[in-house]
Amino acid sequence: MILSNYLVLGLTSLHSYVIATADIEAPSTCRKTSVAILGGGAAGVAAGKALSNASITDFLIIEYQDDIGGRAKHTTFGKKSDGTPYVVELGANWVQGLGVSGGPQNPIWTMAQKYNLTNTYSNYSSILTYNETGFTDFSDLLDVYDNADTIMGDNSGEILLHNLQDQTARTGLSLAGWKPKQNMAAQAVEWWEWDWESAYSPEESSLVFGVAGNNVTFNYFSDANNFVFDQRGFSTIFKHEASAYLKPNDPRLLLRTQVTNISYSTDGVTIHNHDGSCIDAEYAICTFSLGVLQNDVVNFSPQLPDWKETAIQKFAMGTYTKIFLQFNETFWPEDTQYFLYASPTSRGYYPVWQSLSTPGFLPGSNIIFVTVVHRESYRVENQSDEETKGEVMAVLRQMFPNITVPDPIAFMYPRWTTTPWAHGSYSNWPPSTSLEMHENLRANVDRLWFAGEALSAEFFGFLHGAWFEGLDSGSSIAALLKNKTCDSSSGSSAKGCSIRKHYEVLHGPSPLADYGVLNGWPISSFIDNNSD
Ligand SMILES: Cc1cc2nc3c(=O)[nH]c(=O)nc-3n(C[C@H](O)[C@H](O)[C@H](O)COP(=O)(O)OP(=O)(O)OC[C@H]3O[C@@H](n4cnc5c(N)ncnc54)[C@H](O)[C@@H]3O)c2cc1C
Ligand SMILES: *[C@@H]1O[C@H](CO)[C@@H](O)[C@H](O)[C@H]1NC(C)=O
Ligand SMILES: *[C@@H]1O[C@H](CO)[C@@H](O)[C@H](O)[C@H]1NC(C)=O
Ligand SMILES: *[C@@H]1O[C@H](CO)[C@@H](O)[C@H](O)[C@H]1NC(C)=O
Ligand SMILES: *[C@@H]1O[C@H](CO)[C@@H](O)[C@H](O)[C@H]1NC(C)=O
Ligand SMILES: *[C@@H]1O[C@H](CO)[C@@H](O)[C@H](O)[C@H]1NC(C)=O
Ligand SMILES: *[C@@H]1O[C@H](CO)[C@@H](O)[C@H](O)[C@H]1NC(C)=O
Ligand SMILES: *[C@@H]1O[C@H](CO)[C@@H](O)[C@H](O)[C@H]1NC(C)=O
Ligand SMILES: *[C@@H]1O[C@H](CO)[C@@H](O)[C@H](O)[C@H]1NC(C)=O
Ligand SMILES: *[C@@H]1O[C@H](CO)[C@@H](O)[C@H](O)[C@H]1NC(C)=O
Ligand SMILES: *[C@@H]1O[C@H](CO)[C@@H](O)[C@H](O)[C@H]1NC(C)=O
Repeated sequence: MILSNYLVLGLTSLHSYVIATADIEAPSTCRKTSVAILGGGAAGVAAGKALSNASITDFLIIEYQDDIGGRAKHTTFGKKSDGTPYVVELGANWVQGLGVSGGPQNPIWTMAQKYNLTNTYSNYSSILTYNETGFTDFSDLLDVYDNADTIMGDNSGEILLHNLQDQTARTGLSLAGWKPKQNMAAQAVEWWEWDWESAYSPEESSLVFGVAGNNVTFNYFSDANNFVFDQRGFSTIFKHEASAYLKPNDPRLLLRTQVTNISYSTDGVTIHNHDGSCIDAEYAICTFSLGVLQNDVVNFSPQLPDWKETAIQKFAMGTYTKIFLQFNETFWPEDTQYFLYASPTSRGYYPVWQSLSTPGFLPGSNIIFVTVVHRESYRVENQSDEETKGEVMAVLRQMFPNITVPDPIAFMYPRWTTTPWAHGSYSNWPPSTSLEMHENLRANVDRLWFAGEALSAEFFGFLHGAWFEGLDSGSSIAALLKNKTCDSSSGSSAKGCSIRKHYEVLHGPSPLADYGVLNGWPISSFIDNNSD
């Protein structure tokens, strides 16, 4: 039935009758399953967990790469004194917002503890500041920014409370008195405080949802970020979670399988893969990144409706590029975690340097890495390693003018902008966004559901956002498969009964009452569980 729907597009009803008849005579030879989970990252693993937990075991996980984990992605780099390589994270690196004792806990932090993930508290006060002349102390600007940030936070809350028009974070900062345009040191500080997390500048970010997102991760859980450098890779927690329901070589896990076409209807979903194989599912959960959805690398049939395609193109996919260097010695201050560089000419030019050689991390590794985002990511990722190494070394030699900085013995960085299974790093809410726009991003089209980092209204950009969305879609579909009634009129927040609403026509900002579990907003952004 799905196949015929697919073929009749654009044909006359006479043809469609003929094809539909032929279809009955030649039933689909696709592999059959109740639920097709598209993608084996955090969201896909969580969806499988929720289904298994609901005693639905007839599902498949279809994954492009040769392992699970998705954007929790590591690689080997450099070498130890014994000649074996280190493992570094190309993608997700922190558990962000851990949780206070007795309060709610970030599920990624729960897993990190359960599976003994090696990690250390990221001390954002352990920072030295530099410019083109070397060390120069502009750390006082960090407090100036923080004061403006508090005022911006209050103003964003007023907008959300009173159903007013969203603004840009730039507007929020300027109204709070933070105006860094003439000061490169202040711009470096702003980059460290805003772009480093959002992967976009304040003018490219939503004021309300940027602040709300920070509030729920860092006020609802806690303000701590722990940096993961486990030599098994960060993804080990997701492999452990998956192995609780997938046995070794489980035939339900299809690795190295690239989905190319998805046809959906009110009856089911058919998935076609690059290798010619296909799957007929009662329901499917697409966890591909927003970048994958935006770049037409998967064909949907019928074409996604306007309200859905508009939402996909509305939200933004940021890029966050870590550039790794190993030296034969640690020539930078050994006890410091962060080094902030203010370029004299270009905001966001190799700004944040992070030492792995510091005690508590991988001392003696002589590894340091520098991060760029967004436009600088596109520029740097389009350069050869040699060009980028030249720029990076020139900056390091400005930062440490009195030291003979040796050439690196290892150098490497990923190209997230062109990674075919990601097309960027993580999502961001652009200026003047409304909750309704995001509800359209999150809503299902017929039996095709969506999950993953970008689908989390409150925890977008984070591993825990991906995890929550995977659990929610998995348990919702389990309820549908079991025909549990989901009573939306009672405002039921029963797990697995969330109704995915969409809007053919957008109405602007949403009243406070709409910020609830049914619209993907389970936690108030006005909460503050941090005692300090
Ligand atoms: C550089 C970087 C730094 C980050 N830092 C942090 C951090 O410190 N802390 C944090 O919490 N989060 C961080 N994140 C975000 C975090 O990694 C993501 O939110 C999370 O991993 C997303 O999980 P997901 O399941 O939604 O998507 P994914 O992990 O992208 O999973 C989707 C899966 O679908 C597969 N796929 C894609 N296309 C196809 C196809 N056509 N066919 C079959 N399979 C396909 C992909 O291979 C992938 O495995 C970072 C991300 C990046 C890239
Ligand atoms: C597992 O099922 C139990 C009982 O139905 C439910 O309370 C729990 O929330 C479920 N957990 C997950 C991760 O789905
Ligand atoms: C946890 O990890 C640390 C560091 O990798 C290791 O020393 C320790 O033995 C591990 N503990 C357990 C219980 O696995
Ligand atoms: C963080 O670093 C600062 C500056 O070096 C130091 O004073 C502080 O004690 C550190 N905090 C923790 C928790 O290690
Ligand atoms: C570098 O050396 C010069 C001359 O001795 C000195 O004036 C300057 O402060 C030093 N710079 C740094 C960053 O240590
Ligand atoms: C964010 O939290 C701060 C501090 O609790 C609060 O003042 C502000 O109103 C909140 N903003 C939003 C958008 O929830
Ligand atoms: C997949 O979609 C492309 C582009 O629409 C189309 O050319 C191709 O025939 C489709 N493949 C299958 C197997 O449906
Ligand atoms: C860099 O710092 C030095 C020393 O504090 C200062 O004289 C110089 O003006 C700074 N450069 C810029 C571009 O601000
Ligand atoms: C830079 O982009 C161009 C155009 O897309 C491409 O041909 C070239 O290979 C890219 N270079 C690198 C080093 O990625
Ligand atoms: C590192 O290499 C440089 C030459 O590139 C050399 O001068 C320096 O002594 C070396 N450091 C160590 C600790 O071997
Ligand atoms: C369960 O749901 C399916 C699909 O929506 C429907 O066809 C079927 O009649 C329902 N069964 C019951 C017992 O409600």
